[in-house]
Amino acid sequence: MKSHLGALSRQLSTVRAGQRARAGWICQSCQSLQLPQSLRSIKASRKLFTSSAALRELKDKPYYVTSPIFYVNASPHVGHLYSMVIADVLKRWQVLKGKEAILSTGTDEHGMKVQRAAELQDIQPKALCDTNSETFKDLANKANISYDHFIRTTDPDHREAVEYFWSRLRESGYIYETKHEGWYCVSDETYYPESMIEKRVSPITGKPFTACAETGSAVEWTEEKNYHFRLTAFREKLLQFYSDNPSWVTPQNRFSEVISWVQNNLEDLSISRPVSRLDWGIPVPDDPSQTIYVWVDALINYITVAGYPVWPPGSEHAKGWPVDIHVVGKDIVRFHAIYWPALLMALDLPLPKRILSHGHWMMSRQKMSKSVGNVVNPFFALDRFGVDTMRYFLIYNGAMSSDADYSNEFIVDKYKKGLQGGLGNLLNRITRSKNWNIRDAVVSMHGKQSELVSTSVKMQKEYLESIVKEVSNRMDELNPKRALQAIMEFVFEINRFLQDAAPWDRSKAGDTAAVEQIIFFAAESVRVAGILLQPFIPEKSGQLLDRLGVSLDRRTLEHARLYADDGYGTPTVPLGEGAQSSLFPPLPVED
Ligand code: MSP
Repeated sequence: MKSHLGALSRQLSTVRAGQRARAGWICQSCQSLQLPQSLRSIKASRKLFTSSAALRELKDKPYYVTSPIFYVNASPHVGHLYSMVIADVLKRWQVLKGKEAILSTGTDEHGMKVQRAAELQDIQPKALCDTNSETFKDLANKANISYDHFIRTTDPDHREAVEYFWSRLRESGYIYETKHEGWYCVSDETYYPESMIEKRVSPITGKPFTACAETGSAVEWTEEKNYHFRLTAFREKLLQFYSDNPSWVTPQNRFSEVISWVQNNLEDLSISRPVSRLDWGIPVPDDPSQTIYVWVDALINYITVAGYPVWPPGSEHAKGWPVDIHVVGKDIVRFHAIYWPALLMALDLPLPKRILSHGHWMMSRQKMSKSVGNVVNPFFALDRFGVDTMRYFLIYNGAMSSDADYSNEFIVDKYKKGLQGGLGNLLNRITRSKNWNIRDAVVSMHGKQSELVSTSVKMQKEYLESIVKEVSNRMDELNPKRALQAIMEFVFEINRFLQDAAPWDRSKAGDTAAVEQIIFFAAESVRVAGILLQPFIPEKSGQLLDRLGVSLDRRTLEHARLYADDGYGTPTVPLGEGAQSSLFPPLPVED
């Protein structure tokens, strides 16, 4: 395929130079590009999206989740980790449901921001990208992100996909060339309209500068000739699409901002820069004097990963397209919810199904960001608190529609209350007693509809019967934070249930039947909680299920039901003594 795409680029040059090669019969739209035979069939396959075979396949396609791809001008921070973890939780949830799911992450390596960072360090941009991309990949691995693709925008197949995408855009008539003047922000890699610009004074140097009022990042005036995308031609179509898909962007406050922007601020989009200013990027096919705008290049990563444009007829969706969920921070919603669908509409490609936007982590009331200098190194945090503690904290305390404060004290507090005091304590209480045995309780209670010994047992049973639905609803609403909180409320309730039902007293009184019933419902509740926690804290929940003796093939959502597993109860690992005895031992340093 690569050679076909290379051939396509060469063919396009030929067309531009007016040297049309003669071949056999080709359809009219292909004629304008003189595509090789192989790519003509790729073009023809686009039309198959409405065929019944393609629709059937669309239903069965893998669930496809993406995280943003990260700029490599600097090292990762906790904010980046947050985007990754949310995407990972959403993917793992689908796997738990028994679906095939794909998660893609990676690095965004072109553009002014990276070019300048390399200049400052006096190294080649590619060398900077190689080093920093590896660091992001290390972070994804360390944080147990179950990614299936780690794309780099400097990958050759991505470059070919971008060239192909661009060429088809030009063919569609939505690209034109014109002079552009405006305020460009290198840090945000975007132009801002005059209405968003203000004068500021740097708190560090005391020097005045011009900034974007929303992000506070410096902007610079630019006047240059470049290519534009007729974004305004899509105003009505976008608005119609939004109104047909009222939950397309979550949370709702971000969607309202998007709609208002399209109604009031939409302008055609400058999609290239003169190579004299920006040469670290993908050259415009057949016009090496221009470099493709980094955001167009970056957004296409999502479709490169899905194999675009090598989509043989009938298997357009085989690698996941269209995306089921794009996870993005609130600062980049506009690019995903306006530019991206318009670009896809221009090529008649299916649109992503949903966008989930999250809020920012703040330090000292400012967005954590490299340029402000208030970032938390995620590697240190993962080492210090543990991978699952960080995953737990980020989801539990992180913000979706607003922002959240980051602090080590909050992490310690969440660890002690939720993981150590809630989950770890509960597990110890039911697995370590000399007065009962979970396996005996499971064997004795399974399939038996015995009368319940107390109201608290009855209530616990009812709670257990409703929790999965509750968590599933929260996940369907794309609210992993509420889902995790719902599971933890359930965990806290199991502890209260044990306290109230007091199996130790019943045991002293020799009431074995009651003890077994209480322990059975507690164990069933912990088993279900453990299954539900897997997307959030995969390692710790795995250890919890090991300690309960739940076999590996009985850890799916299908098994998260009362009586769904009659084989557990004997730990498959030693329960450990001393410091090893708890799933959540004291943190090495607590402050
Ligand atoms: N390269 C673009 C994305 C292109 S996607 C086609 C980009 N990169 S970024 O490295 O600046 O940011 C990546 C993600 O990290 C974004 O979702 C952004 O919102 C998130 N975060 C960056 N700082 C953050 C916080 N302080 N808090 C939470 N998330 C933040 O934008």
